[in-house]
Amino acid sequence: MSLRDHPGLCLVLLLHLLPSVTGIKKSLSYTPVDLILLDCGASSSSTSLDGRTWDGDADSKFHASNPETASSAFTASQQDPSVTQVPYMTARIFQSQFTYTFPVSPGPKFVRLYFYPATYSNLDISKSRFSLSANTYTLLNNFSAFLTVSAMKPSVASFIKEYIITVWDNQKLDLTFSPSPSSFAFINGIEIISMPNNLYASGNNNPLPYLGIDSNQFYLDNTTALEKFYRLNVGGQDINRNDDTGMHRTWLQDLNYIFSGAVGFVIVPPDVKIQYTMKTPAYTAPVMVYGSMRFMGPDSHLNLKYNLTWYFSIDAGFNYLVRLHFCEFRPEETRSDQVVFYIFINNQTAEPYADIMLWSGGNSVPLYKDYVLWIPKGSHSKQYLCLALHPNFDKKRTYADAFLNGLEIFKLNNSGGSLASPCPELLAGSPPPENLPKLKVKTNEKRFLVVIVVGSVFGGMLALSCYLFLCF
Ligand SMILES: *[C@@H]1O[C@H](CO)[C@@H](O)[C@H](O)[C@H]1NC(C)=O
Ligand SMILES: *[C@@H]1O[C@H](CO)[C@@H](O)[C@H](O)[C@H]1NC(C)=O
Ligand SMILES: *[C@@H]1O[C@H](CO)[C@@H](O)[C@H](O)[C@H]1NC(C)=O
Ligand SMILES: *[C@@H]1O[C@H](CO)[C@@H](O)[C@H](O)[C@H]1NC(C)=O
Ligand SMILES: *[C@@H]1O[C@H](CO)[C@@H](O)[C@H](O)[C@H]1NC(C)=O
Repeated sequence: MSLRDHPGLCLVLLLHLLPSVTGIKKSLSYTPVDLILLDCGASSSSTSLDGRTWDGDADSKFHASNPETASSAFTASQQDPSVTQVPYMTARIFQSQFTYTFPVSPGPKFVRLYFYPATYSNLDISKSRFSLSANTYTLLNNFSAFLTVSAMKPSVASFIKEYIITVWDNQKLDLTFSPSPSSFAFINGIEIISMPNNLYASGNNNPLPYLGIDSNQFYLDNTTALEKFYRLNVGGQDINRNDDTGMHRTWLQDLNYIFSGAVGFVIVPPDVKIQYTMKTPAYTAPVMVYGSMRFMGPDSHLNLKYNLTWYFSIDAGFNYLVRLHFCEFRPEETRSDQVVFYIFINNQTAEPYADIMLWSGGNSVPLYKDYVLWIPKGSHSKQYLCLALHPNFDKKRTYADAFLNGLEIFKLNNSGGSLASPCPELLAGSPPPENLPKLKVKTNEKRFLVVIVVGSVFGGMLALSCYLFLCF
């Protein structure tokens, strides 16, 4: 059944088995060379709820060069219901500068840092302030994990910071914690995972469009470190670490970021076969990302009246890499020139003529597009990055529509090699501001809220997730 054939149809019921959870053996498309999971402050190895094995860091070969007195192991006094035992319940606390040294292969690495700012013995965690460097890069400066969780909405007890750092030939990866004067530093867990060489750094032969600055090309090579801000499975559901392509990335659904005045429609077909390519290999993003989308809707007339819009809170004074993942899998879209749309990033036209079928060369063929955006320092250190899609429609085209399958946003280090923002920072995950413009809907146009239920079977357990649809 095609939505296009039923433009008046507002209630769509998709009841199906999701491919990733039907018990079919996953074949990971990437096997990391380096995979280190360190449970800081723990004396022995243990397994986290997601089935991964973490090594304790007591007597760890990774911190041999520090004096005995530089650090101590602690256990949190209380376990918040939202935090898992491993790696959060134990911490290593640093009274003076402390370096972990990881002997890893050359190349780009994901570095994930796990923080649970809780009470450890008699230490006042609100007094913890520290800086953190990774080789020559500054990741954190006078950082307060306590203020960071206090500023997050919805409220959380723990958080993970994810970075991409390239380790050069004959180099090790050094993570150095430096407590601010008369303060202390801490960490609960460290994860290091290698990745394919050119997954995010496109290199000097492939300059990226540079928005917000007159010169319009940006060279993103492996001398730049990145910090992940957002990674979304647009139109789909959350994807956990074990369902990534081998790099243990999590992908979140996009509902918290879509402008709620007009959320469009989502589709998650049961049996889409994604045709990965040399340019977009299977490790780029899981089938679940390319196999679900959010689109504007079946009504071309209405689509021309609005933008499909997402808002993301970010720090000012940095460049950002915005990666958009696309895959046109709707069977009725068979050729270029059927669906063409504008891509606006912070009011600037990133693409006047996005024709995914033209770019990809076929139905169910995935691709991604990268843009770099400069966010100038404004009156606030927090700013919003706004992504908007709008049909580019004329008589040649069949439909006025636009869609997106996935999205990633990374902060890039500044020219001084720093990724640190002033603290407290509102971390990635904050919802959009409340005083955003509301979509004007004529009162005689009917609005329906349609709930689509996707059923999925987890080893005998039925899990239900709901998607909200809005149509007019
Ligand atoms: C960094 O990028 C250059 C150019 O693409 C490549 O030759 C080199 O091997 C990369 N270095 C590492 C350590 O990945
Ligand atoms: C770190 O932050 C604290 C609290 O805002 C401030 O008092 C202190 O001066 C800062 N230290 C440095 C080195 O910036
Ligand atoms: C986009 O344009 C609108 C209207 O001109 C303006 O209010 C808004 O601040 C702009 N947003 C950005 C991020 O430049
Ligand atoms: C869509 O966004 C662009 C860029 O911000 C803006 O110029 C345009 O007016 C918006 N269109 C609608 C219908 O809101
Ligand atoms: C990131 O830092 C490195 C080393 O300090 C520098 O060479 C590179 O140009 C920086 N990247 C950006 C985008 O400024």
